[in-house]
Amino acid sequence: MMKTIPYLILFSSLQIMACSSASPEHTLGTNSFLSVEDYEKPFLISPHNTFSFGFYEVGHNAFSLSIWFTNTIDKTVVWVANPNSPVNGHGSKLSFYLEGNLVLSDGKGSIVWDNKMMSGQGSRVALLETGNLVITDSKDCVVWQSFDSPTDTLLPLQLLTKDKRLVSGYYSLYYDSDNVLQLKYDGPEISSIYWPNPYYSIFDNGRTTYNSSRIGILDNTGHFMSSDGLNIVASDSGLGINRRLTINQDGNLRLYSLNTLEKKWTVTWEAMPQICGVHGLCGGNSICEYSPSPRCSCALGYEMVDLENWSKGCQLMFTNNYGQVVDHFMFVEMQQVDFHGFDLAYNMPISLEGCEKICSAMNSCVAYSYRAGHGRCFAKGQLFNGRKTPSITGSTYFKIPKTTNILIVKQYGLTCRHNNTHEMHQHLEKLLYYYICAAIFGGLELIFITIAYVFLQSKQNIPKSVLDGYEFMTEHFKKFSYRELKEATGNFKEELGRGGSGVFYRGVLDKKRVVAVKRLTNATKAEEEFQAEISVIGRINHINLVRTWGFCSEGKHKLLVYDYVENESLEKHLFESIDAKRFLRWSQRFIIALGTARGLAYLHHECLEWVVHCDMKPENILLTQDFEVKIADFGLAKLSKRSCSSLQLSHMRGTIGYMAPEWALSLPINAKVDVFSYGIVLLEIVMGARISSQTTTEGEKLDLTQILEALKQLVASGDVTHIVDAKLHGQFNHLQAMEMVKISLSCIGERNKRPTMDEIVKALMACSCEDKY
Ligand SMILES: *[C@@H]1O[C@H](CO)[C@@H](O)[C@H](O)[C@H]1NC(C)=O
Ligand SMILES: *[C@@H]1O[C@H](CO)[C@@H](O)[C@H](O)[C@H]1NC(C)=O
Ligand SMILES: *[C@@H]1O[C@H](CO)[C@@H](O)[C@H](O)[C@H]1NC(C)=O
Repeated sequence: MMKTIPYLILFSSLQIMACSSASPEHTLGTNSFLSVEDYEKPFLISPHNTFSFGFYEVGHNAFSLSIWFTNTIDKTVVWVANPNSPVNGHGSKLSFYLEGNLVLSDGKGSIVWDNKMMSGQGSRVALLETGNLVITDSKDCVVWQSFDSPTDTLLPLQLLTKDKRLVSGYYSLYYDSDNVLQLKYDGPEISSIYWPNPYYSIFDNGRTTYNSSRIGILDNTGHFMSSDGLNIVASDSGLGINRRLTINQDGNLRLYSLNTLEKKWTVTWEAMPQICGVHGLCGGNSICEYSPSPRCSCALGYEMVDLENWSKGCQLMFTNNYGQVVDHFMFVEMQQVDFHGFDLAYNMPISLEGCEKICSAMNSCVAYSYRAGHGRCFAKGQLFNGRKTPSITGSTYFKIPKTTNILIVKQYGLTCRHNNTHEMHQHLEKLLYYYICAAIFGGLELIFITIAYVFLQSKQNIPKSVLDGYEFMTEHFKKFSYRELKEATGNFKEELGRGGSGVFYRGVLDKKRVVAVKRLTNATKAEEEFQAEISVIGRINHINLVRTWGFCSEGKHKLLVYDYVENESLEKHLFESIDAKRFLRWSQRFIIALGTARGLAYLHHECLEWVVHCDMKPENILLTQDFEVKIADFGLAKLSKRSCSSLQLSHMRGTIGYMAPEWALSLPINAKVDVFSYGIVLLEIVMGARISSQTTTEGEKLDLTQILEALKQLVASGDVTHIVDAKLHGQFNHLQAMEMVKISLSCIGERNKRPTMDEIVKALMACSCEDKY
């Protein structure tokens, strides 16, 4: 069987050539037949061979009766007699009977399609050069034509009239009862018109309802005119080009021109340049957005109903009966997101709070859209036709159960080919499902606490202060008296915060310089730390490290004087910020990640003595007004000679959650512990959430290995969108996010394989030029 196929093709193509050169059959009399087995030979061709009519293979052993462009690469079909009922490749037959009727029958002889018109003896069937299949009676009067029953394509000179429509799947183009030509999605759940733009009036869209002739025509120059005032002009308008106006499976209406050399089509106009404006693409509770190709994603708090099928949309993550008790749900915002239709209420002008109240009060309200400028408030009963574009100025706030952890809100990606968007429904990307949430060190925490306790109980060999012998009298580093600092801080009036080893107070030196004075709590016990800090600090000078002005050591009074950094710590901005002023945009986050890496790299590689911070966490990353990083709190910093590869610490340091496993394993402590902590901080910068405080909805904890595994899968999938802070609403740089997650992975991983801070700085620098967000 298989071997005969090349012969068949060769034979048939020769036959076509013979036919077309010798006697092009563009018209046939009655009593003409074509068997499906001879499908390689068209039943008819148009006089200049532009169009062919006959059996067209639509699938394995499945054929439709079609008209197609002969000379295009994919034999573009413009008309189909039996679109929903293809016939078998054996025994099916097309007959132009003596009575003058055209009939398609399948293998068993039953009629699948016919033109429902007996034009009598002497009738002829012809395929015209326009692509119109025409049946004429013996008097040459047209009794039937394919142009009267279009499928998804309108050809030049074919009239689009009242009661005719172009259809593709759930989408159609037709004149509605208001005389306006429109595109409509008519799906299983909803029907809605998306073109002309439903956000504007018919007249604002340049149409009119007054002319009831309901007629549209594409002329030979690429100009489509409609009785409702619509005028479409192809970008290459002019004579001599083959064109078609087609409604595609993605719901878009496009005007195409044929490039005869390449035998390919180019789009010369389209109704929806922004494909997300087409309704029904993504199903309920989901949003069409560009990243940059269009894709669907679920609304915040929702998840896909069917991972394989976006048209089924999304559902609330947890089934929930909204009570009217406000405590049971919360509203989460997605910026630049809007849903068309299904408004329960419309109010204007009204405040955001007022709008929220309206939706809270209505049981059936699932979300509200708010446009700040005009104070427009739309309470939504259902969420369909969602889209996200920068042109939308408002936000949509979803009412979701309070128990939903927004950080585990997952987004599913559907990307379609750039060059073939109508295949959107057919090409489902492999979808990944991640829960990134856990108390990573949940299990380790207890061990840490126990060990620390044992240390504190067992040995406290406090070395005597050796500070008297130190002389740090450079102009930048000064020894203060306790009285001086007491005065400067107004008797320690204004507390700024508490670090691991002390309390910070605001102070003013020389009536002009604002400083942060750190008073070591439990000073007698902190002698060792103090000594370490002092000896290092005087030498440290880097833009990303907090500058130290001096110290004080008088008996039990141990103080350090730091530069005052005005803009709070990273922790506040990352985890506690809901207000816009504090919220960190992506570009700021990236700069912070880089600054922190630079500061640490300086400590590790450039100091005269090798310094390990030992307590890297967002609390110790201070930010200036310009969001420049100033790493603070060297209270736990340790140093060793460069020749030393590592040093042993006498007791537990650091903060649980950011501590490398080797702390618990009694392994030598070196700079790799900072690298580990940096990896955690970096991940938190990306996620906008504390890793150590994450729990699944079931309250289950994932250990570090599981987190690493999930991250690896994300990186392998090439898309880390799922773990990027949802509060950024997609406004982030994918390249940088991917790089940051990769770096985190290597930092958190096996100790020997962790990179150095220098390497991290280089890796970040390599992708730092992309400053889109
Ligand atoms: C209505 O539209 C048709 C087709 O464009 C046009 O020929 C006709 O003049 C229009 N009628 C009116 C009253 O404008
Ligand atoms: C997707 O879901 C829709 C609506 O439920 C259904 O009509 C369609 O056949 C499904 N498509 C696939 C590929 O399963
Ligand atoms: C789309 O583009 C890709 C690569 O750019 C190509 O391989 C593929 O054949 C194209 N598909 C179509 C239908 O043109």
